[in-house]
Amino acid sequence: MSRVYLSPPDVGDEERRLVVDALDSGWVAPLGPYVDAFEAALAARVGVPHAVALSSGTAALHLALLLAGVGPGDDVIVPTFTFVATANAATYLGARPVLVDCSPDTWQLDPDLLSQTLAERAGRGALPKAVVAVDLYGQAADYARLVPVCAQYGVALVEDAAEALGATYGDAAAGSFGASGVFSFNGNKIITTSGGGMLVSHDAALIERARHLATQAREPEVHYEHLRMGFNYRLSNLLAALGVAQLAGLDRRMARRHAVNARYRAELGHLPGISFMPRAPYGEPNDWLTCILVDPDAHGRTREDIRSLLEARDIESRPTWKPLHLQPLFRDAPAVGGGVAAAIFERGLCLPSGSNLSDADQGRVIDVFGHAGRGA
Ligand SMILES: Cc1ncc(COP(=O)(O)O)c(C=O)c1O
Repeated sequence: MSRVYLSPPDVGDEERRLVVDALDSGWVAPLGPYVDAFEAALAARVGVPHAVALSSGTAALHLALLLAGVGPGDDVIVPTFTFVATANAATYLGARPVLVDCSPDTWQLDPDLLSQTLAERAGRGALPKAVVAVDLYGQAADYARLVPVCAQYGVALVEDAAEALGATYGDAAAGSFGASGVFSFNGNKIITTSGGGMLVSHDAALIERARHLATQAREPEVHYEHLRMGFNYRLSNLLAALGVAQLAGLDRRMARRHAVNARYRAELGHLPGISFMPRAPYGEPNDWLTCILVDPDAHGRTREDIRSLLEARDIESRPTWKPLHLQPLFRDAPAVGGGVAAAIFERGLCLPSGSNLSDADQGRVIDVFGHAGRGA
């Protein structure tokens, strides 16, 4: 029996065909027809007119904040319950992340807490330069609440949809709500280019500026002319070919992740002390990862007991994100609340959720709970 991974890449013949085609075409640089095609297809899928393919989601976040005007000494509001990359992007610019708690109903940035924080900061002339909302674990944040609050205070909203390609909020796609939206195609995401990202926006000028900055801010001269500092952040045409093939299979991949999530709920939901990440009523998640909470008193085992039992059977699982306000890296960052995210971290576990997870391998995961639960 082979190891069961949390969310491994799911690639097949079409990926091989397009990558070989890109190689054969001679376009192996960070520009070429597959980059153009990937940008166009991703933008169409998300329902935004403009997109630039980049080397990572982190690069996309960095440019998104830079183009939101974030600079040294600024504050940027970031949910405390997220991956470190969300806050690192602010730090790259000399800004300070301000870590705001999530809502227990959605696990996403708490709109009430955001509203209170902006009101309090407006009162003392200390508004942040930007707010980053994260669509965590593939579920959109509550944009009907977040967008007007940010607009009221004139603070730019950036959407970190790194984990949420394919998810929706109402009729609109995750990634389409902010001044710009960020996607990641890291190896563990719902689609992958091995490493890669995308910045999308309704604003053509913003994406053109991002493209310029991502190309070492090279001016359109025959020689190398530079007026400002840029970055080497473009995605290669070879990897974009992988992205085009992966994106074409997004619906299949999402359907499989929904099915994996539904089976976990059906087979584990009745166990004492096991509950699932809440599903927000306002849209459809992509079910990138299925996350559970383990109440040790009711279940008879801790989250860590279960993780170890899974590991002993060669099954990878992960605690949910450790909140950033608990990370030594951000010990000096201001935090607003944090108890909700801390409580989720104490009990939260992400289960194998890949779109290529076989029924038999998912059965191996579920069997461990049969042995781990008090009633077993
Ligand atoms: C919420 C979130 N933001 C940003 C990133 C960064 O993306 P990348 O790994 O492509 O730089 C990730 C994942 O890796 C993520 O999960």
